Amino acid sequence: MWGWSCVVSAGLGVVETMRVLVTGGTGFVGAHTARALLAAGHGVRLYVRDREKAVRLYRGWGLEVPECVVGDIADEGAVAEALSGCDGVVHAAALVSLKARDAERVYATNTRGVASVIGGAVRRGLASIVYVSSVSALFVPGQAIPADAPVAPARSAYGRSKAECERMVRRWQEEGAPIRTTYPTGIVGPDDPGLSEANHAVRTFLRDTMVMTSSGFQAVDVRDLAQLQVALLKESEGPRRVFAGGRYLAWEELARVFDELVGRRVRRVPVSGGLMRIAGRVADVVRRVWDFDFPLTGEAMEIATRWVPVPDDPALDALGVQYRPVHETYGDTARWLWRAGHLSERQVGALAHPVERAA
Ligand SMILES: NC(=O)c1ccc[n+]([C@@H]2O[C@H](COP(=O)([O-])OP(=O)(O)OC[C@H]3O[C@@H](n4cnc5c(N)ncnc54)[C@H](OP(=O)(O)O)[C@@H]3O)[C@@H](O)[C@H]2O)c1
Repeated sequence: MWGWSCVVSAGLGVVETMRVLVTGGTGFVGAHTARALLAAGHGVRLYVRDREKAVRLYRGWGLEVPECVVGDIADEGAVAEALSGCDGVVHAAALVSLKARDAERVYATNTRGVASVIGGAVRRGLASIVYVSSVSALFVPGQAIPADAPVAPARSAYGRSKAECERMVRRWQEEGAPIRTTYPTGIVGPDDPGLSEANHAVRTFLRDTMVMTSSGFQAVDVRDLAQLQVALLKESEGPRRVFAGGRYLAWEELARVFDELVGRRVRRVPVSGGLMRIAGRVADVVRRVWDFDFPLTGEAMEIATRWVPVPDDPALDALGVQYRPVHETYGDTARWLWRAGHLSERQVGALAHPVERAA
């Protein structure tokens, strides 16, 4: 039942290509994965809410806009139609919002999205299914996350939605469905169509200050995650779960990387982990009466102050995926933040003039 393969003879040899549906094709992870698929010669169909956004995005990258299907991920019928004729799917669409008023919508969108996209792909017997989960679905403060970690309890609507999606996906995997789950930590990198959480944090570090607290910051470069997801689509084995932890740096190590990149000492404020966690819990209470979108939550502060590094997944080597150096990741991210108007020339310092710097 789980069989795919579109084999194309390409002059010098045989190239295996797939036709892949990418949900969230105008989002950070989805767009980078679609780009990596196109670069590898695969056919891409995007599932998007806004075709014009897709046109602007892909043309801005100098790419031909892939075929687009417009719809909501919760719409089972529209998703089923979009899956028709595809060999694989990458489900990267989700609603990420910390606003209290969005809680119900976040939970419903994300769980229904997995039911229709992953469930639809399983029912159709697709051989290559990639689901973008999150390490946060397995995170217990202060504890290492083993490969067979159970789903962890979560407080926020987003956290609860990712936990419930994880449970649904695991049930299908137990039945043998070839779903490959990736578990990213924070995701950073250039060309973010919105300003997702970890890139928002990088902007705060360079624009405002770095809070030097306990533990550190772990993030994966979106381009490395995209390569991993393309490699997993090509896998012929059944279900599997792969950690995309990326690089971990203690807060002071990360601050030093930024110092070197921008050519000045970035502002640092030491704050105890305990105080940060209290601030997060207070923010959770305040949010009930005054809804704000700043990423200060009890859950986020547990992650920021009690993170235990996720080691490199042994699967990466076998899949031929390597994380790029941190200076490249954060250098490209900060430079993009500047070019996109999120940081000023002064804030990125030496990164704005790489040639003069080299000279
Ligand atoms: N970013 C991180 O640091 C991070 C870390 C760990 C895990 N993840 C996971 O990675 C996945 C992708 O996240 P991301 O950073 O790429 O987020 P993103 O940039 O916000 O992209 C989310 C995408 O989902 C689409 N979407 C939202 N609601 C939809 C709906 N009802 N119907 C159809 N499409 C919908 C959005 O469409 P529009 O473009 O129209 O808004 C957008 O393209 C998510 O599952 C997230 O939980 C992210």
